[in-house]
Amino acid sequence: MTYVDERWPVFWEEAAGSNVRDADGNVYVDMTAGFGVALLGHSHPAVTAAVADQAARLVHGMGDVHPSSLKVELIERLCKLAPWEGAKAVLASTGSEAVEIGLKTAAVASGRDGILAFEGAYHGLTLGSLAVTSRGLFRESFEGRLHPGVVFAPFPEPWRGGASVEECLTRAAEFLDSGTPTGHSIGTVIVEPIQGRAGVRQAPDGFMAELSRLAKEAGALVVADEVLTGMGRCGPMFASEVVGLRPDIVCLGKALGAGLQVSACMARPAVMDAWPQSLGEATHTSTYLGHPLSCAAALAGLEAVPPDARSAAAEERGGGLLAALRGRLSGAAGVGQIRGVGLLMAIELVADDLSPAVGAGAEVASAALREGLLVLPAGEDSHVVELTPALVVTDEQIEWTVEVLLSAIERAA
Ligand SMILES: Cc1ncc(COP(=O)(O)O)c(C=O)c1O
Repeated sequence: MTYVDERWPVFWEEAAGSNVRDADGNVYVDMTAGFGVALLGHSHPAVTAAVADQAARLVHGMGDVHPSSLKVELIERLCKLAPWEGAKAVLASTGSEAVEIGLKTAAVASGRDGILAFEGAYHGLTLGSLAVTSRGLFRESFEGRLHPGVVFAPFPEPWRGGASVEECLTRAAEFLDSGTPTGHSIGTVIVEPIQGRAGVRQAPDGFMAELSRLAKEAGALVVADEVLTGMGRCGPMFASEVVGLRPDIVCLGKALGAGLQVSACMARPAVMDAWPQSLGEATHTSTYLGHPLSCAAALAGLEAVPPDARSAAAEERGGGLLAALRGRLSGAAGVGQIRGVGLLMAIELVADDLSPAVGAGAEVASAALREGLLVLPAGEDSHVVELTPALVVTDEQIEWTVEVLLSAIERAA
C-alpha cells in the first residue's frame, strides 16, 4: 500500500522545530511539518511539557461516559473560536472521522442524504470520507462500498484552462436543484476552502461565497473541511474566512493537536442540536474521544501560540517563503505557477507546452530528500510540490530550501 524504494522512506527518530533527525543520524529540514500537523514546530516545548505532565496524572478517560475535564475545556475553547455564536463541537481522533461526523451532522440536520463534493477533493480514506474523496486511485477498489448519493462538481481552475467559475457554479446549482442521478436530494455540500492534496488549488474570488449562497437557498448545509487549512495555517483560524466560504459545519484535525491525534467537528447550535437525543447510549462516539493527552496538547498549543500570533506568523513566514520561491524559481525551466496562502503553498511543474509535468512532483520530492529536504508531491498528476511548513521556519531554512528546490527542479526538468 505504501511507496518504498532504495532511498524512500527514511525513518524518523527525533524532531524539533522544522528539523528532523533520522535513524542514521541525517538531519532534514521538514517543509511538510509532518503532513501539516506540526504547525507550531515539532516538539513545541509548551506542548511537550503539557503532555508529560498530563501523562503523569491521567492518560485515558471514558470519552462519552466519564470524560476528563480537559475534554470540556477543549470543546469550550474551540467553540469560542468558531464562526458562530453558541457553537457546539464533537471531538474525534483523525481528520477522516471529523469529516464523517460532519457528514452525519449535515444528514440529520438537513433530512436529506445526497452530498455534493468537488473534483480533486481529499477528505480522507475511511469508507464514509472516501465516498466524498474524488481521486480514482483511492476509490477504485471500493466503489461498491461507497455511499451512492454523492456527486462531484468540477472545481474551478481557469488559470490552467480548466472549468470557469460560472461553469462550476452552474453544475453545482443543477445538482442542488435536481439531486444526484441516483435519486438522492442534496442536503450537504462538502468542500475544502483551498484544495490541499489536489495541489493547493484556490478557487477564484467569489466562487465560495456564491456556492454558500446557492447551498443556503437550496436548504443544504455547507461543511468546510478545514483539516489541513484550519488552526491558522492560512492566516485566520479558518481559511473559510480568506476565501469567502460561509460554512454551517467545520471539520478540524492535523494542527489542532500540535502533534497528538485529535480532531473536531463544530457546527452552528441549531445544526448540532438536530442529533437525536441520547437515551443511555451515545448516538455517536469512539473509544478515544476526548483523549486526555491529546486534549492537553491541543490546549497547550492554543495557549502557547494563540490565534493572533498564528495569524501574524503564518502571514509573515508564509509571505517570506512565497516571495523567496517566486524570486528564485519563477521563470526557471519546468516551473509553472507558484502559489500559496499563509503557510500552505505549491510549486506547479509543467512540460514545455505548459501542461502538467506528470510525476515531476514525486521526482523533485525524491531528489530533495537526498539533499535533506522533506517536501511532498501533490496533484492528481503528481506535478506539484507542496509545502506546509511550521510557523517557526527560519530565514536560513527558507533560503536553503529554495536553493535545494531549484537544483532538484533543474535536474528533473
Ligand atoms: C483536507 C483533508 N481532509 C481530511 C483529511 C484526512 O485526515 P486524516 O488523514 O487525519 O484522517 C486530510 C488528510 O490529509 C485532509 O488533507
